[in-house]
Amino acid sequence: MQHEKILVLDFGGQYNQLIARRVRELNVYCEVHPSTMSIEKIKEFNPKGIIFTGGPNSVYLKDSPLIDKEIFNLNIPILGICYGSQLMAHLLGGKVSKARVSEYGKTELRILGDSKLFDDCHRLTTVWMSHTDNIEKAPKDFVITSNTANCPVASMEDPNKKLYAVQFHPEVMHTVEGQLMLKNFVTLICGCKGDWQMADFVKQNIKDLKEKIKDGKVLCALSGGVDSSVAAVLLSKAIGKQLTCVFVDHGLLRKNEANEVENVFGPNGPYKLNFIKVDASERFYKKLKSVTEPEKKRKIIGEEFIRVFEDEAKKIGHVDYLVQGTIYPDVIESGLGKSAVIKSHHNVGGLPSVVDFKEIIEPLRLLFKDEVRKVGLELGIPSNLVYRQPFPGPGLGIRIIGEVTKEKVRIVQEADYIYREELAKAGIDKNLGQYFAALTNMQSVGVMGDERTYEYAIALRAVNTSDFMTADWARIPFDVMDIISRRIVNEVKGVNRVLYDFTSKPPATIEFE
Ligand code: XMP
Repeated sequence: MQHEKILVLDFGGQYNQLIARRVRELNVYCEVHPSTMSIEKIKEFNPKGIIFTGGPNSVYLKDSPLIDKEIFNLNIPILGICYGSQLMAHLLGGKVSKARVSEYGKTELRILGDSKLFDDCHRLTTVWMSHTDNIEKAPKDFVITSNTANCPVASMEDPNKKLYAVQFHPEVMHTVEGQLMLKNFVTLICGCKGDWQMADFVKQNIKDLKEKIKDGKVLCALSGGVDSSVAAVLLSKAIGKQLTCVFVDHGLLRKNEANEVENVFGPNGPYKLNFIKVDASERFYKKLKSVTEPEKKRKIIGEEFIRVFEDEAKKIGHVDYLVQGTIYPDVIESGLGKSAVIKSHHNVGGLPSVVDFKEIIEPLRLLFKDEVRKVGLELGIPSNLVYRQPFPGPGLGIRIIGEVTKEKVRIVQEADYIYREELAKAGIDKNLGQYFAALTNMQSVGVMGDERTYEYAIALRAVNTSDFMTADWARIPFDVMDIISRRIVNEVKGVNRVLYDFTSKPPATIEFE
């Protein structure tokens, strides 16, 4: 792939992925690598520009990540952000010190002089700051190009060497002209024209997959989610019937979902894949009987999924390649992240050891979620599928608090269906990040037609989120809630109460288990 490339070197900042996404929004290909990448590897990567991310450290701490000073002599433009800017100052002979006042949040930036980085920006513009150290003195040959009330060197540059540094975060939304600044860096300073187009990516990928796989056999676990669907269609365009897709219905899908997946990918759908649907619901219900502990449920569902897939794979015999729908955030996180496991997420990561295959293919491993969607549209996958909201691997199993039974699955499926239907009717479904019904394990007393009832309470959840790491509960109009609540109680047998979840993430998670 001979695209223009920007290299993001990660110093442990929380916004590393965001920087890469912002650059790709400019149609410039970009990868995130650890700050320990060697100079040799950097040269091999051959970027048109380099961005140093922020990071939680002070350049003076013993274990703080540094970088080989040689990087400043490669004649490749560099933009240092936050910690990255301080590191640049520190290594090139400037002075970094604890800020008089640590800045956090929106701050007014005053631009001084003429910098290419600030081309077309207002002289006074709002930026997002988050730091306790700052650059006290710029290195020799650097000019200061902006400041704030509390930060004397909010940005600096040595334009001859194409070295640029900003104390604030241009990648976050709160920096009003941040995307313009990144564009200036990528286009005016690095000289990128923007040659990263999804149509080219798709064409090139299909060609590469054809060349790699030749007449080999390929197996794909299709969940009906966006990633595995796009991966499957991409592969089918490349190798047609050499691809076999296995779709496991674990009996924990949403109402009608198994049929919807079959209609698109099955023998009567547009793609004519080799499609094997396995109805394994009873197997899963049996395994889940009397199990109430969330992590145990997740584990059982994940493991049983592998067993079912294994049984199918045995029937198929040896395959040359196994497809995984890994996407770029997974790659970045597994390479760099050290965060605590809050929930053991279920995906097909456990498959390799049980399937007889030669190699794994991950056709989406370089793409962000929004890019996967673009590829999906490019491939002609229906937009309702491409924009479908995320659905967890363990499915309704983690939306039924406590023991899972067939009857409880029915209740939550029906309630969820009504909820989704009414949100769509009200025209607000598209504005919501994720929404679903869950079955609480609580039964309570009610009255229906003069009769005492003792039935379940359904909990409704809807959140808005940009990254699913944090989320805010959605303000659904009460009138809409009224219709939904009435319908659920009237139409779903076994429910006599409807609750709404008013908790954001954190402290709650999006799913209930
Ligand atoms: P939580 O509940 O952790 O969810 O706030 C964040 C996002 O991840 C989805 N989720 C999962 N996705 N396997 C998945 O593939 C899982 O086990 C899983 N658990 C949660 C959840 O739906 C939300 O979008």
